[in-house]
Amino acid sequence: MSFWMRRKAIDGASGGHEGHELKKTLSWYHLVALGVGAIVGTGIYTLTGVGAGLAGPGVILSFLIAGAVCACAALCYAELSTMIPASGSAYTYSYVAMGEPIAWVIGWSLILEYTLVCAAVAVGWSAHATGLFAAAGFPDYLLAGPHVTLADGRHGLINLPAVIISMAVAGLLALGTRESATINMVLVVIKIAALAVFVALCLPAFDATHFTPFMPKGFAANPGPDGVKVGVMAAASLIFFAFYGFDAVSTAAEETKNPKRDLTIGIVGSMAACTAIYMIVAAVSIGASRTEVFSASEAPLVFILETLKHPKIAGLVALAAVIALPTVILAFMYGQSRIFFVMARDGLLPRALSRVNARTGTPVLMTLLTGLLAAVLSGLLPLKEIAELANAGTLAAFIAVGASVIVLRLREPERPRVFSTPAWPVVAAGAILGCLYLFASLPAKTQHYFFYAQLIGLAIYFLYGVHRSVLAKGASPAK
Ligand code: ALA
Repeated sequence: MSFWMRRKAIDGASGGHEGHELKKTLSWYHLVALGVGAIVGTGIYTLTGVGAGLAGPGVILSFLIAGAVCACAALCYAELSTMIPASGSAYTYSYVAMGEPIAWVIGWSLILEYTLVCAAVAVGWSAHATGLFAAAGFPDYLLAGPHVTLADGRHGLINLPAVIISMAVAGLLALGTRESATINMVLVVIKIAALAVFVALCLPAFDATHFTPFMPKGFAANPGPDGVKVGVMAAASLIFFAFYGFDAVSTAAEETKNPKRDLTIGIVGSMAACTAIYMIVAAVSIGASRTEVFSASEAPLVFILETLKHPKIAGLVALAAVIALPTVILAFMYGQSRIFFVMARDGLLPRALSRVNARTGTPVLMTLLTGLLAAVLSGLLPLKEIAELANAGTLAAFIAVGASVIVLRLREPERPRVFSTPAWPVVAAGAILGCLYLFASLPAKTQHYFFYAQLIGLAIYFLYGVHRSVLAKGASPAK
């Protein structure tokens, strides 16, 4: 069978791998916590400021656009993850719907995305934790990467707090799914409580005049005077980072006790809750402070509270971010190790990497390798560039998910769907076209890096996976 023809069967997507199954330990409330834990993070705590700098008050529109695209994608994810309750997320859906080569490209994109998200959030966490590390005696050149110019003109050496948090979260995950999901739940409550306090303190200072002029840099993403793309869509292509994370929930499908019910609640519920929280936080931020003022801050929410003369609460919100942002790293590192696990189990990556530890029921080696890679990236690279490249990988995955819904609806219209995407042609097309528009709005450099990464990925596939694929070794083709 030609490699182009290799497809997984829907019913066999998760079975038949003796010694390589994950434990079923998760319920819907674990998944909602995993989703909220993955969605609310560096995007709202840090990138809100950068986005406001790119778009002005029109950043509220950027939030709306990115949220609408993610809502379409979330509905598509819900349909596919309940239809194909196997680990692997967009990679597995693409394998079933469109075949192995496209599945590889998407799996590779997810590896890129998840690792970069872990690294980006670690850098955002570091921005809130730097004060604590400095107070503990760490020299400034160990608190910033080489791209940062320090006060005395030297360059930073390494962002050590980001390295430390990446490795700490990997260690936690390697200890086992249930333990880390429970800790995750407590931290999610802290993170949401901090945002609620922020909103409550900003509301009395709300000034509607801050919303005009609404789009000082225009709507489409066009290069500004310094060559950097600005405008509402440029901000949307960055702010998009703040919305995704619900897709990490679907990577837990194989470890979910009741996948049909729990995944639907987990994905749609966490997406809806976070979109509502985001819109409120963005609106009160703009109402309480001018975008050109808070856009300069690396910790804009904390900065706004300080300007409103709430220094103690500002300190507590920063502390909440320090305590709770690791939930985002946790959720994505979890997703990353599972994507790797499934791709290795399918024979596309070395199988030794997919071995599950008998005591913890988790792929320990893969989890620790993911942590190491995130640590290196976060220690050396700037946040905006990491986040934009993560977005490119995510957009590719979302496009594949929209396309998979269309392909499977046309190919298997009669198959029962536990969750049916409403108005599926419109929603799936909305996910695909919205993601393409966001991709086109990313900086040209990010687009180029993404395509180079894909070329490397394809070289690995044709040198390794195409020959070692489980489906290449006589497994029956998809029905
Ligand atoms: N949505 C996640 C965040 O904002 C990736 O950090």
